Amino acid sequence: MSCDRMINIALPKGRLGEKVYALFEKAGFPCPQLLENSRKLIFENEEAGVRYFWVKPSDAAIYVERGAADVGVAGKDILLEYEPDVYELADLRTGICRMAVAAPEGFRDDPGRTLKVATKFSHIAREYYRGRGRDIDIIHLNGSIEIAPILGLSDVIVDIVETGTTLRENHLEVIETVMPISARLVANKSGYRFKNEKITELVRAVSELVGK
Ligand code: PRP
Repeated sequence: MSCDRMINIALPKGRLGEKVYALFEKAGFPCPQLLENSRKLIFENEEAGVRYFWVKPSDAAIYVERGAADVGVAGKDILLEYEPDVYELADLRTGICRMAVAAPEGFRDDPGRTLKVATKFSHIAREYYRGRGRDIDIIHLNGSIEIAPILGLSDVIVDIVETGTTLRENHLEVIETVMPISARLVANKSGYRFKNEKITELVRAVSELVGK
């Protein structure tokens, strides 16, 4: 099958990607070699007309925006933070968590002071506090955000909370929910036009499976 007849799919590496692949397989886009325990990152099934790539979860939307993948799966957190120029086609109703503000147990906000906010999601945090008219100072970190308020680097954090275990184990608690998050199926804008039939088929089958 020629390159442009295949649909190229960027999947987030890890547990979420494996769940999403199971969904796509059921939807009629199988590629069983994908689950072989290897270090390979690209897999294709010519017969089904699919090529899958394992990518870093935060990069999936970049592959799609630039057209290296026709479709991909990205968390709503990444889409809101980086605003890639892609079509958001379906909520996959998996990878469910929330974006939240958390602080050390017993924290009391003093509205008279600039609030120090540590986060990987600077844009989301800025927009959230702008909407509330709260003056903040963003401290951009790349991971282990929970440490920041413990060490006095920040007053609060804006981060993903899934089970709440990381917060609990670090004596932090959610003080506000910013928004619910889940994995989304996104498409490259021109790929969506040129491979419309196949992408539409994927969206329809997947949406049916996740109950929409
Ligand atoms: C995310 C998030 C929290 C944790 C929340 O981190 O930043 O640290 O998961 O999950 P929980 O509520 O189930 O404990 P991730 O594993 O993506 O790593 P990183 O933020 O340190 O990069």
